[in-house]
Amino acid sequence: MVTARTPLMAGNWKMNLDHLQSIAFVQKLAWTLKDADHDYSQVEVAVFPPFTDLRSVQTIVDADKLDLVYGGQDLSPHDSGAYTGDVSGAFLAKLGCAYALVGHSERRTIHGEDDAVCNAKVQAALRHGLVPVLCVGETLEQREATETPSEVAVAQLLVGLEGVADDAELVIAYEPVWAIGTGRVATAEQAQEVCHDLRAALAERFGAERAAAIRILYGGSVKPDNVAAIMREPDIDGALVGGASLVVDDFAAIVRYRQHVGA
Ligand code: PGA
Repeated sequence: MVTARTPLMAGNWKMNLDHLQSIAFVQKLAWTLKDADHDYSQVEVAVFPPFTDLRSVQTIVDADKLDLVYGGQDLSPHDSGAYTGDVSGAFLAKLGCAYALVGHSERRTIHGEDDAVCNAKVQAALRHGLVPVLCVGETLEQREATETPSEVAVAQLLVGLEGVADDAELVIAYEPVWAIGTGRVATAEQAQEVCHDLRAALAERFGAERAAAIRILYGGSVKPDNVAAIMREPDIDGALVGGASLVVDDFAAIVRYRQHVGA
């Protein structure tokens, strides 16, 4: 099937880089990609800084007219009100965010976010014109306890997308929890197997044409030396990168995966 899914390379900084460091980082990343003649229309580049950096990132992106886009690592399921510590999607939209991560495994594990909460956050993102990047993926125990490797991820996907309009713009990130920050990357075949099943579930939910247009990223120990193999898989449209997104040269090399030998 011929599809026109622009690859997306997304850097999830997690709780790293303060707002001053974020300015230096974004400038250096933009210069590095410019020096390499990177065409953002061929591979989209997004960063997900901590909330406290977003205004600084916005300022530098606007001032230097960068093609880089950015988003929040999380958002509140609510729009405003007495929710101490929460950040509204409305605020993220005002700061020029294009995306919001939803349901990263660290949010699910450390903050106890279940699929219902993730669903509310997906809906909140869409209400404010943000594209939700819904993260799904199984733990090692779940992978061993289920019949097919995709069972947990598909179930998280379906609940996470409940009530979402058929034409909503979405990005899905498959991140096997056992591969996040562990250096233990899923093989390209393992990643493809689950991403294929996720797309099949999207097709059942939204129809084949719509499913063929939704980008599915892989995340979990993506590095410059493994990204090309992952990107060769037909159902993988980009990467959600943690550790390697904090090193400018590594992230730039991931963005430029097509230049790697054999890519
Ligand atoms: P990692 O993190 O690349 O450091 O494994 C990925 C993620 O958590 O999004």
